[in-house]
Amino acid sequence: MGDRSPFETDMLTLTRYVMEKGRQAKGTGELTQLLNSMLTAIKAISSAVRKAGLANLYGIAGSVNVTGDEVKKLDVLSNALVINMLQSSYSTCVLVSEENKDAIITAKEKRGKYVVCFDPLDGSSNIDCLASIGTIFAIYRKALGEFVLVEKDVKIKKKGKIYSLNEGYAKYFDAATTEYVQKKKFPEDGSAPYGARYVGSMVADVHRTLVYGGIFLYPANQKSPKGKLRLLYECNPVAYIIEQAGGLATTGTQPVLDVKPETIHQRVPLILGSPDDVQEYLTCVQKNQAGR
Ligand code: AHM
Ligand code: MG
Repeated sequence: MGDRSPFETDMLTLTRYVMEKGRQAKGTGELTQLLNSMLTAIKAISSAVRKAGLANLYGIAGSVNVTGDEVKKLDVLSNALVINMLQSSYSTCVLVSEENKDAIITAKEKRGKYVVCFDPLDGSSNIDCLASIGTIFAIYRKALGEFVLVEKDVKIKKKGKIYSLNEGYAKYFDAATTEYVQKKKFPEDGSAPYGARYVGSMVADVHRTLVYGGIFLYPANQKSPKGKLRLLYECNPVAYIIEQAGGLATTGTQPVLDVKPETIHQRVPLILGSPDDVQEYLTCVQKNQAGR
């Protein structure tokens, strides 16, 4: 040992190396943070592997220990350790693990710019015979323009609580739209009124409708007898998405997707959303047509 304190050693640890290089790079520190979190996870895995026999961590996933916690197999435990450490490093956006069928998307508030792909415990089938095992990982900087599937088989609610249209045009509304909007504000059955939301950007209004349910309307009105939105590149694409999600998209007289285009910039009225909400609007249309 000599006279030197153990803290004065020149030993180059990986943590020290990562910190030193990070400092030299004068960057945001995000990669340093990521690597340190990964190293912490790996140290925890290493510790678990070394005492696996004592801690009874061999091949016993699904059982319950004395305190009632589920005892995990080493590879399951390692996976959880890496995921937890990386997600709490605020430096990752997508994680791809050998243990998870789908990519893991980091929660928005913890998101950073790196994609990490890893095998938390390579060779884990050799754990019981004490062969060498290890954690493998690769870090990619998020490539601009990647689209990541965050939800499969999206379905819209049967009925929502939001109506969405430009109510500034109320003066020009037809009778059906006026009646429908009135019903949303003053429900006849004593239920709570709907909330009103209108961004004025169809992609945003339709996206919200898809996620939260409810109805989006750009109907025909006295000023715009065919509505405003264009069939081929505004109405049809969103109508298709909404229908695939189990909703309805109508012009008020027919399904949007049934309209035969006559010109490329043709406009059609567009009413879409949760099936029950759109159906209620159509009932107002039919009632007002019958009353004419
Ligand atoms: P509005 O201002 O008459 O309410 O119109 C809003 C609509 C949006 O739903 C849509 O995104 C947009 O107008 C379409 O117009 P453009 O393609 O010219 O932006
Ligand atoms: Mg547009």
